[in-house]
Amino acid sequence: MRQVLILFLVCCLAPFVIAKGVIANKQPPRLSEASKARVLMTLREDCANCHGLYRLGGLGPALTPERLKVYPVEALALIIEHGRPGNFMPPWKDVLSKEEIDYLANYLLTVEPTPPEIQMRGEK
Ligand code: HEC
Repeated sequence: MRQVLILFLVCCLAPFVIAKGVIANKQPPRLSEASKARVLMTLREDCANCHGLYRLGGLGPALTPERLKVYPVEALALIIEHGRPGNFMPPWKDVLSKEEIDYLANYLLTVEPTPPEIQMRGEK
């Protein structure tokens, strides 16, 4: 009887344990502080050239959580990794590590860009 009870408990709990593992994988990877700084510097100094300092768009589209939420985080990471061949969006796989790209994809999806404090006349 005891074994049956244990078996029953294992079967009931297994889906939760597995599901928790899957959800845990969606968490951004843990990066060293140096790596995080490198990602944010790339965002400010490289991505900003085309997507705007405040990620509101330029040559490339806006990269705000609101606009990007149609993408699962994995799809976003793939776009950043490989770029958009045939368009101006370059691949970043030789610049950032896989973990850094995953972190960046997660960052773009969750962190709102800080709005400009001063707006130029005529700017929306
Ligand atoms: C040389 C200009 C340029 C740079 C630098 C650049 N991008 Fe892009 N990016 C583009 C363009 C242009 C598109 C639109 C491509 C298309 O529509 O096929 C784009 C598209 C994207 C998309 C897809 C957006 C969507 O709505 O489909 C993401 C995500 C993205 N870029 C992220 C980044 C990140 C992150 C960086 C920095 C690591 C970066 N880009 C740097 C030009 C650039």
